[in-house]
Amino acid sequence: MNFDGNFYNPSEEVVNNAHIKDWNKLNKFASENPEKFWTSMAEELHWFKKWDKFLDESNAPFYQFFVNAKTNITYNCLDVHKNSYRRNKLAYIWEGEDGSTRSISYNELYNEVCKFSNVLKSMNVQKGDIVTIYMGRVPELVIAMLACARIGAVHSVVYGGFSTESLHERIEDSVSKVVITCDGAYQRGKLVNLKDITDGAVDRSGVVQHVICVKRTGQEVNMLAGRDMWYHELMQLPIASIHCKAEQTDAEDPLFILYTSGTTGKPKAILHTHGGYMVGVYASLKYVFDIKDEDRYWCAADPGWITGHSYIVYGPLLNGTTSIIYEGAPNFPFPDRWWEIVEKYGVNILYTAPTAIRGLMRFGDAWAKRHDLSSLRLLGSVGEPINPEAWRWYNEVIGDGKCPIMDTWWQTETGMFMITPMPCMPLKPGSGTKPFPGIEMDILDEEGNSVADNEEGFLVIKNPWPSMMRTIYGNDERYVEQYWQKYPGMYMTGDSARRDSDGYYWVIGRVDDVIKVSGYRLGTAEIESALVSYPDVAEAAAIGLPHELKGNAIHCFVILKSGVTNADELPDKLKLHIRHEVGPIAVPEKIEIVDKLPKTRSGKIMRRVLKAQALGQDPGNLSTLED
Ligand code: WT7
Repeated sequence: MNFDGNFYNPSEEVVNNAHIKDWNKLNKFASENPEKFWTSMAEELHWFKKWDKFLDESNAPFYQFFVNAKTNITYNCLDVHKNSYRRNKLAYIWEGEDGSTRSISYNELYNEVCKFSNVLKSMNVQKGDIVTIYMGRVPELVIAMLACARIGAVHSVVYGGFSTESLHERIEDSVSKVVITCDGAYQRGKLVNLKDITDGAVDRSGVVQHVICVKRTGQEVNMLAGRDMWYHELMQLPIASIHCKAEQTDAEDPLFILYTSGTTGKPKAILHTHGGYMVGVYASLKYVFDIKDEDRYWCAADPGWITGHSYIVYGPLLNGTTSIIYEGAPNFPFPDRWWEIVEKYGVNILYTAPTAIRGLMRFGDAWAKRHDLSSLRLLGSVGEPINPEAWRWYNEVIGDGKCPIMDTWWQTETGMFMITPMPCMPLKPGSGTKPFPGIEMDILDEEGNSVADNEEGFLVIKNPWPSMMRTIYGNDERYVEQYWQKYPGMYMTGDSARRDSDGYYWVIGRVDDVIKVSGYRLGTAEIESALVSYPDVAEAAAIGLPHELKGNAIHCFVILKSGVTNADELPDKLKLHIRHEVGPIAVPEKIEIVDKLPKTRSGKIMRRVLKAQALGQDPGNLSTLED
């Protein structure tokens, strides 16, 4: 890329080889005629029956897309490729943390998914049933997700780093009859016993009838007769045939739910559907990461998050690409593990998070320089704003100055990239450039007016888009209240941003009580409720403060119950408690014991005051402060 003082411009070669060479032209077409734009993308996919209508807005904000169409996302992920020249192309190359490897072709993936679909059917899993999946980063996780979707069941993947408590809550909330797990997972050379954690969640739950366990580590686990079954044994039964027709799902039938943290209360289940979600992730991956048939693409996220759902599982398979899945940590056993993988498999596209980039940058350039990374053609970033220093390192040391960086802004709720460059666009480090064609966004002040250039405001989305969430599962009111109430007719992202005079968006961060820690999304409410569930704690407040590696780190303030002694050891005990209640990702950086918390007269904790105090900034308007 050539830097002209304002923009990093892609080379002529990059532009000439890209699917989209003229972003402005595509954007103009899409904004003047969104229906034509989206339906032309939909036409590239298979439908058992086409739609009667592209968009039904009659019950907004409960929008419907591709009304009355019939499809099944797995038909487009599997059958279409199996019936084409891609039959024996690799769908996945998997590398375990321990060095073991597996290659899975489209044909083989099709067979495995059909087999497991039949297993699920034999357990009486039916269309619309929710199945919880709690696993490490192994191919069976993808197979399990696809098998659910194939029979019209709804998967609910819970990230393997969550605790028993969090898993229990999600199983209960979604009323899952079946849970799929592993015996264990490798984590920096250590074994984590996932089956134990699952048992802890399932034993207390009245809803689970069966637990299916994938053998990954071979460690000793308890198998409860009648309830627990080994995946590999089920897959050998005659019932597990390699033929299973994809259920003809309605475009609006649910595909999955995924829990994510919100502003208040418990994590909420974001619901996505077969039709619109499919079109959105297919089109966005194709154009943004410019997928070509010969590419090897690596999204280094965890399939347990939306990034993995959209851009490890569905997007890449819809595009018939070959993806890498790596099981372990980026710096295990050495800080060049990722660069070794890029070289070994000839990865062309690498998509990761700023926190990982900063983490690897810290070890110096030499680890990357030991490897031939010349196969890379595009890089990507997601999860939080990328600081210009990390952007430049990623560009220069990893991309050798020739790989455009796709800084993609989106959310669990949006399903797909919303603010993102395409390879043909000039870049600015730290900006995701402009909204994806067909998406209309704006930045508003408190009253709902667009702010001037370079001014900060609330980031909103002004028109519905196919891959948008449909609701919060089981809580339509909360869906309306949380996303559509502040500015009627517009979707509230919960982020603040500014737009510069070139029309480029700069996302600043959350304006609600969500904290992004190493790209993970956590709610202050979850951390606080874990803290007050500890017997010695009377009240608690959690805030996010800037952190060099993690982006933000959690800082907590607690008031103890009267008469509590031994307060010195309490912060450490509380950290352990949060690890048990929520999971290791939620462990605070610091816990301070205080006598008082700033509150409004109605008793709400004023976190912004705590934050300003901690940062030595002006706390702003204090008129509502109680004392
Ligand atoms: C929040 C959504 C969607 C994939 C991963 C996160 C922040 C995400 C960026 C980016 C600045 C970003 C926002 C957003 N975010 N990508 N490129 N630049 N901020 O999904 O867990 O639902 O979190 O992540 O704050 O609201 P998520």
